Amino acid sequence: MNSLERTKLKKLKTKKFSISSKDIKPELIKEASDLLLNNEVVAFPTETVYGLGAVITSEDALKKIYKAKGRPIDNPLIVHISDYSMLEDIVKEIPEKAKILTNELWPGPLTIILKKKDSISSIVSAGLDTVGVRMPSNTIAHSLIDATDIPIAAPSANISGKPSVTTSNYLVEDLDSKVAGLILSEDSEIGFESTVIDMTVEPPMILRPGFYSKEDIEKVIGAVSLSEGITLNKEPDRPASPGMKYKHYSPNANVILIKSDNEDEFKAKFKSLVNNKNKEYAFIFTTEDLILSDFPNLIIKKLGVSEEDFGHHIFSALRDADKEGAELILVQIPQKIENSLAIMDRLLHASNYTVY
Ligand code: TXA
Ligand code: MG
Repeated sequence: MNSLERTKLKKLKTKKFSISSKDIKPELIKEASDLLLNNEVVAFPTETVYGLGAVITSEDALKKIYKAKGRPIDNPLIVHISDYSMLEDIVKEIPEKAKILTNELWPGPLTIILKKKDSISSIVSAGLDTVGVRMPSNTIAHSLIDATDIPIAAPSANISGKPSVTTSNYLVEDLDSKVAGLILSEDSEIGFESTVIDMTVEPPMILRPGFYSKEDIEKVIGAVSLSEGITLNKEPDRPASPGMKYKHYSPNANVILIKSDNEDEFKAKFKSLVNNKNKEYAFIFTTEDLILSDFPNLIIKKLGVSEEDFGHHIFSALRDADKEGAELILVQIPQKIENSLAIMDRLLHASNYTVY
């Protein structure tokens, strides 16, 4: 083994902090924050998905994020802040619409793209002259940034390409022995990522659909546009943002989405797909019970009827199905999920745009 291989295999001793958002222990937050100030990487909960953080002032630390995730270096990181003055330190100017929008929707699942100050490392922006910034509402995330007193760059805390992490068990599975610290907490409240909106163009443009819909945002600042590709049910010719071009949100098993406005049609599609006795199938669906009695060996994941329930559980359901040995995961797409751009975006990526 040469020295390069040895460095690759070197395992870190990962410090785990169990912190409940209902009883935040300041001494544990301080310990995790000290790791960050020591140029180490620490994963922490946010209201959307878990994030993998490093202070934006240490290029050493920022590089560790890319290494731990196996993230392509041309995919920029989102900077997380705990108060508005931090935004002023990061970006060149804050347009009026950005002020109005953040005033209404921060703290929360909204990331704005603005022109970055020259002082912000190009490792954060992956070489772009812009930077994504978000103020999370999760109280542990807030306390951690506050205690560190430096903005924290954090992508989603999953190995690149896999479904995002929304539960502490999958945080350990993906990152144990790869980073210095993990803050283990409750399941992510929302379960999928923030809306990313470019505020450097007029009208502002949504680059990644997320918790806040186009309509939610338009109620606050008037018309915004959707980046080309987001609205389509097929693979876009051009990615909306650097991160959208990579394999994303994908479990090991293949995923197929089945639309189900009409029950008979759905049954026929389902039967034609679940046709090999020797294969392990998983089925992810809402609580409308369908034809399960005909398929006794399915791995079943019921997500609940509402869009909130579906969004909250979808990433962990994909991971659970993998863990239970599924070779093919079928996901029922009822009309109301089809109407959710954010959830459909994740599922289209997970299934590599395979829709029946
Ligand atoms: O909810 C979230 O946003 C989570 C939590 C942890 O905050 N974070 C997250 O980060 O989803 P990540 O790295 O998995 O996704 C960031 C997305 C990528 O698609 C990236 O390309 C885009 O935001 N992005 C970041 N900075 C950008 C920039 N300057 N210009 C265009 N797109 C940018
Ligand atoms: Mg991600």
